[in-house]
Amino acid sequence: MLVEGLRRLEYRGYDSAGVAVLSQGRVESRKKSGKLMKLLDVLEAEPLPESPTGIGHTRWATHGGPTDVNAHPHLAGGGKLALIHNGIIENFAELKAELAEGGHSFASDTDTEVAAVLLADCYERLLPSEVAWGGLTVAMQMACQRLEGAFTLLAVHADQPGVVVAARRNSPLVVGLGDGENFLGSDVSAFINYTRRAVELGQDQIVTITPESVEITDFYGAPAQGREYEIDWDASAAEMGGYASFMEKEIHDQPDAVAQTLLGRSGPDGSLALDEMRIDADRLNAVNKIIVLACGTSAYAGQVAKYAIEHWCRIPTEVELSHEFRYRDPILDQDTLVVSISQSGETMDTLMAVRYAREQGAMTVAICNTNGSTIPRESDAVLYTHAGPEIAVASTKAFLAQITAAYLLGLYLAQLRGNKFQGEIKDVLADLAKTPDKIQQILDNSGQIKDLARSMSESRSVLFLGRHVGFPVAMEGALKLKELAYIHAEGFAAGELKHGPIALIEEGQPVFVVVPSPRGRNSLHAKVVSNIQEVRARGAKTIVIAEEGDEAVRAYAEHVFYIPETPPLLAPLLATVPLQIFACELATAKGYDVDQPRNLAKSVTVE
Ligand code: M6R
Repeated sequence: MLVEGLRRLEYRGYDSAGVAVLSQGRVESRKKSGKLMKLLDVLEAEPLPESPTGIGHTRWATHGGPTDVNAHPHLAGGGKLALIHNGIIENFAELKAELAEGGHSFASDTDTEVAAVLLADCYERLLPSEVAWGGLTVAMQMACQRLEGAFTLLAVHADQPGVVVAARRNSPLVVGLGDGENFLGSDVSAFINYTRRAVELGQDQIVTITPESVEITDFYGAPAQGREYEIDWDASAAEMGGYASFMEKEIHDQPDAVAQTLLGRSGPDGSLALDEMRIDADRLNAVNKIIVLACGTSAYAGQVAKYAIEHWCRIPTEVELSHEFRYRDPILDQDTLVVSISQSGETMDTLMAVRYAREQGAMTVAICNTNGSTIPRESDAVLYTHAGPEIAVASTKAFLAQITAAYLLGLYLAQLRGNKFQGEIKDVLADLAKTPDKIQQILDNSGQIKDLARSMSESRSVLFLGRHVGFPVAMEGALKLKELAYIHAEGFAAGELKHGPIALIEEGQPVFVVVPSPRGRNSLHAKVVSNIQEVRARGAKTIVIAEEGDEAVRAYAEHVFYIPETPPLLAPLLATVPLQIFACELATAKGYDVDQPRNLAKSVTVE
């Protein structure tokens, strides 16, 4: 059961893995550096005893390299206590020195072992009456009062059979409610096979589970409450469903991800209704600036959305990487709408930026794919993307769903503030509704892009160009290639090329160009075609993503991939798809694990 849970959580970190179980008054533990498979070998060679109580961990190394010794669980208290940890204990050096002075020794380089030793030390200091009354819970309260930083901790103690105690501060943890069994996990996929009832915990809370009970307190022992909710997807949604990788499956989930995100958004009078927008209409009417906060792919979704939101709502919109935002003394007040975008809802950089924005009095809306996660819970309102669980580390379906949700938000504001006529909004919604079928067409005709990807597996560098909404698409295409195929890739605004990056072009340099539709008065088509000619003249091999019927580009491209006609602002929902397929296929051809690329973790819960 533990290994199965870890398999489902492995996308969150895969440097090493370990488990510990309680058996006959002892803690038995196995751990191993490398992917979960390596732990399975160890478990086969040295099986663990049967046990109804245990903890398991997959690691993304922060303090101390990914070695066997640094893997979790960490044992302390003479081997009677086992602890696993996500996050970073910021005052670990000071605590370690103090504990060492008290006679404790350490085997690893990790901050986690310090937490384990501290917890064991607290346990040993308990009065007999405290031990009798849930000693591990009391010890956890004492330890958490000393810890600084971000952490999820789970611990078991040999003298407390059938009990797992966990704590959280700024790091994810959810409870699964079973029948005669209860669970804890970084996210619900850990226990989705056993229950769809979950409880989200607040910050600075401790939860003690036994097969029959779930008790929550704060770090000082005061009783606390969690929020129970029903998980709206099942185990099959988190399986590969016949595809060779989660990434491939998730690329193919995209028509559905967009369709589901659009579903149920119309009110009784046919207007656009966003039921989860709990911010007062008056306050939304007063918004004079929007700041979008996100990281990685989610930030590119924000950059796409900026074009649409400014165009539809005429509200100045900035997009900022969350980790840069609060360190530059940003200007925001109660009339600023801060929109965070996060697939996981747990990205620490984004969470911290959202908190900062709230402190400044701004309104906060989260666009998020994970029910019960921290960022939506700490925001004034949430707009859920309904892409279903995204397991592959490289984000795909979440990206399209985020753009869709951000567009709904833009249209909603335009409707509320009267920037657009109802008919205009309906037209955009109707175009959005046609998008899933168009994505499907691209997926059904992906043979050509896959062939090209395989033929380019030896490439050392690939550049991506785009203008307007095609610019963030180009950056997303480059990010996919970097993270999956470990190939140097950059995305540029095509107009910027002549200001420097064109010096990179040499004979045979592959350059992807996202070409806008030639239709429409303000089309940038001619300008992008000029940019293609500029790089071709210097020896680039051009690969073009263009709209069906755009025959003019053929003359300038080694390869052309056509996407169905769509209004320019919706083109990113289509143009991104061939780039995702390209990166996935090329990385697969190189023999890489596309679901778990090196050095990465799905959900970055440390700053
Ligand atoms: O869960 P989030 O959307 O907040 O994650 C943000 C980034 O870490 C994420 O998009 C990352 O860039 C992906 N690996 C991109 O494929």
